Amino acid sequence: MADRYLSFTRTAPGRFVTRRLGLPQPAPLCRWSAERPALEGPLLHLTAGDTPLPGLHEALTRSGLPPHAGPLGTQRPAAVVLDATAVASVTGLADVHATLHPVVRSVRDCGRVVVVGAPPSPADHHQAAAQQALEGFVRSLAKELGRGRTATLVRAPSATAAEPVLRFLLSPKSAYVTGQVIEAQTEPEPEPESEAEAKPKPEAELPDPIRPLAGRTALVTGAARGIGEAVAHVLARDGAHVVALDVPAAAPDLARVAERVGGTALPVDITADDAGERVAAALPDGLHALVHNAGITRDRRFAAMAADRWSAVLEVNLASVLRTTDFLLKTGTVRRGGAIVTTASVAGLAGNAGQTNYAASKAGVVGLVRSLAPRALAEHGVTVNAVAPGFIETRMTAAVPLLIREAGRRLNSLGQAGRPVDVAEAVAWLATGPVNGQVVRVCGQSLLGS
Ligand SMILES: NC(=O)c1ccc[n+]([C@@H]2O[C@H](COP(=O)([O-])OP(=O)(O)OC[C@H]3O[C@@H](n4cnc5c(N)ncnc54)[C@H](O)[C@@H]3O)[C@@H](O)[C@H]2O)c1
Repeated sequence: MADRYLSFTRTAPGRFVTRRLGLPQPAPLCRWSAERPALEGPLLHLTAGDTPLPGLHEALTRSGLPPHAGPLGTQRPAAVVLDATAVASVTGLADVHATLHPVVRSVRDCGRVVVVGAPPSPADHHQAAAQQALEGFVRSLAKELGRGRTATLVRAPSATAAEPVLRFLLSPKSAYVTGQVIEAQTEPEPEPESEAEAKPKPEAELPDPIRPLAGRTALVTGAARGIGEAVAHVLARDGAHVVALDVPAAAPDLARVAERVGGTALPVDITADDAGERVAAALPDGLHALVHNAGITRDRRFAAMAADRWSAVLEVNLASVLRTTDFLLKTGTVRRGGAIVTTASVAGLAGNAGQTNYAASKAGVVGLVRSLAPRALAEHGVTVNAVAPGFIETRMTAAVPLLIREAGRRLNSLGQAGRPVDVAEAVAWLATGPVNGQVVRVCGQSLLGS
């Protein structure tokens, strides 16, 4: 559905009227395209204090943007990465101000400010206070930046752990991700499946940066339309063979999506008792990425909510996710080195009137991720993460009443709704297993909060 307000604010009268009335003036976001696969402009790499994170500059060099440690002259940065890992005191926070303040205005439209922090220490409350302060700083800066610019905090114990997160955040694929904290912990290396896999991989076998999912199989539930359809497209673009699942009633749309992505259609109701068996039977060689996207809403205020509305939502959005995840992990259908990506929602983090059933189901998904992620990685070599979309333009949100829909679009730091592709980019990134146990909000920093 077209965002007429966004289009209006791009016209001369629209700019005039919205400025006079003090209304939001959202900037069009610069999303990934084959013609524009990277942010345009240099990357400024700054350090707060005297102790840089070892290997960070090299990691940034591999990110695709040329990093500069010194002044850029007349050039404006497309991104600023501030290494704040050594900040351990209020004095260190003064360094954050001294380092970032002079350059923050110069960041280009649709640019990025990424702060790299260290995990707060349970043994040093001064360091923990300073590192936690970075979170409040970044979340506030994200609300101030405007012009499609984003601010995020990556907490990482090493440059190696931070690198895959930085690659995503410093690319146009993260256009609708802002005001976020992503933890890039070092996890135990998954046990190799065989001796052959234990050997270091020759250069040619390393993941292709353009098609990181080449040779991999991905299952996407709810793929006949909306976000699921976009996920199928982006996973296929990244090289995966996509198995697109949706309810039998959606079979014609599902077949169309499967054909367009060169994949396979699997018409199955994910709530069926034998859904796991049917997925496993359709994937005799197993799968690398399991994307739980199917979801429904049945909104009513709790006092007026009949039991069938409650249980229908809990069944599709949570029970089927728990059941199929358990089955596909237990049977080894999700292969070692693979990834499970679930779909939560900002409503599940913040709560939303009229959506007690939906928010309960989506908060349940977050609980599943937090509990299962460490065990799934240790026992099965599989990462488990979630995306939490905010207000995304799909048929689900087209059904929302006009005024609430307009509020949903505007009440975030980027002043606009996300597109299905924004969620799909985050899912495709998580499908490569860069982090574990994370809930990545794709919400333009929804003012619903968390
Ligand atoms: N659109 C948003 O703003 C938004 C925000 C937060 C979270 N989400 C979540 O993102 C996911 C996709 O949302 P969307 O907006 O694309 O929704 P949508 O309604 O456009 O698409 C959902 C798809 O899931 C399928 N589906 C429903 N029940 C199923 C079942 N039992 N078995 C198999 N497939 C089933 C539907 O047929 C449909 O194709 C959902 O989990 C939703 O809760 C969406």
